Amino acid sequence: MYRQLMEEYEHEINSHFTDSLTGLFNHGFFQTALDLEFKRSKRHMTPFALALIDIDLFSTYNRLYGHVEGDRMLKDIAGLIKDSIREMDLAARYSGDVFAVVLTRTDADQALTTMERIRQAAGERSNGEITLSIGIASYPRDALSPEGIISKAQEALFQAKISGKNRVDFSKTEKETGEEQKHRILVVDDEPRNLKLLEALLLPLDYDVIKAGGGEEALSIVSRMEVDLILLDVMMPGMNGYEVCRRLKGNESTRLIPIVMVTALNDMDAKIRGIEAGVDDFITKPPNKLELLTRIKNLIRVKSLNNNLTSLKSVLFSLANAVEAKDAYTRGHVWRVSETAVALCKKMGLSEKTIKAIKLAGIIHDIGKIGVPENILNKPGPLDPVEREIMQRHAQIGYKICLPLKKTLGIALDIIRHHHEKLDGSGFPNGLKGEEVSLGARIMAVVDIYDALVSDRPYRKAMTKQKALEILREEAAEGKLDSRIVEALIEMVQ
Ligand SMILES: [Fe+2]
Ligand SMILES: [Fe+2]
Repeated sequence: MYRQLMEEYEHEINSHFTDSLTGLFNHGFFQTALDLEFKRSKRHMTPFALALIDIDLFSTYNRLYGHVEGDRMLKDIAGLIKDSIREMDLAARYSGDVFAVVLTRTDADQALTTMERIRQAAGERSNGEITLSIGIASYPRDALSPEGIISKAQEALFQAKISGKNRVDFSKTEKETGEEQKHRILVVDDEPRNLKLLEALLLPLDYDVIKAGGGEEALSIVSRMEVDLILLDVMMPGMNGYEVCRRLKGNESTRLIPIVMVTALNDMDAKIRGIEAGVDDFITKPPNKLELLTRIKNLIRVKSLNNNLTSLKSVLFSLANAVEAKDAYTRGHVWRVSETAVALCKKMGLSEKTIKAIKLAGIIHDIGKIGVPENILNKPGPLDPVEREIMQRHAQIGYKICLPLKKTLGIALDIIRHHHEKLDGSGFPNGLKGEEVSLGARIMAVVDIYDALVSDRPYRKAMTKQKALEILREEAAEGKLDSRIVEALIEMVQ
């Protein structure tokens, strides 16, 4: 009696995480288990693989033999999968006729062996009537997050399907798809044996490896070619690792290259000095292959993101230059505005982050003039009301051009849109009033007007500094500009 009760109780509990038809774990439980496996593998620096197994032409089979037979076949395949994996692995019904298998402490090659066995067994059992397509992805080779692993396994499964079914496919690495160039790693060590060892570890992971026998040689290589990451020894004759790191991090053009310092285990002193010199990460000697791979992958990914941002900015700068080319009279305006605004922000004690945004905003604040006809931009006299209306659109056009980059631009986007607002509500495009106008937009407004007044315009000659500052003071007194900002500018330029 107790026994029956216990069985019922057990069944009741299990039903929450198992699939009633196949007896495998259900999708919800699979997700939780994958997250756990990911965390565990990350902590222990061990690999794991995920395989997605799909029954080929399952709907046709259902149509031919009916759903009861289809269900029986699903159960059969589920049983086969369960019998083919180890106790520590996990099999789940991922969706309809797709199964997921998480293979603990298993790399892609080992997973391939297991999955091939399952695929062949399914074919043999059914005399070739039932075939399986299987996609494999592994951590950390293919992705560094649970979601990433799933999507890579799905890609591999899709690949197996479109290349003829009844096969096992790997997630394609970047090299195999030929989409990306190899990343270049510079290894710096005075000990030739260590250089060889690191090279031997990195080459199979498909990195381009460059070697340097000392600090000076490393710096010379970095000055000549693009490097994606540096593995740096600490103690070297001549220039040591700390000094190499300090120099690279102190140079605008090399400071974003990730540096991993190779230290002896537990050398706390070396680590502290390394952090002071600007090292991004550490790895202990002798390096563990997986630890090395994970660190390198992470750091190179961050660097690629930074590269994308840098190229994004150069696109915006080219646009700003294109505007200047259209508008002969404002040549140099945006660069001067940016410089003056930065100096003013520093004087006002604003944060580093704000200053960065203002610097960028200064350069691109008039980007919307790309949408204003040249005859209006260069008209050698005052604009009529229609022309003025068209000219004023540049704020809104600039905002629209840059809107997709909202996250990257931050407050710079607001400045582009509102640098012609006046505190009394008489500005454009939105007629914002008082506090509604952000600090960044107020600063840009003051600096923008100042630069316009002291340079030649199509309709008038440049004013003297004194005259320009007087006008700014008047505008502040009328409640149009922020008087604190105007006073700070006056103090700065005088
Ligand atoms: Fe403007
Ligand atoms: Fe401007």
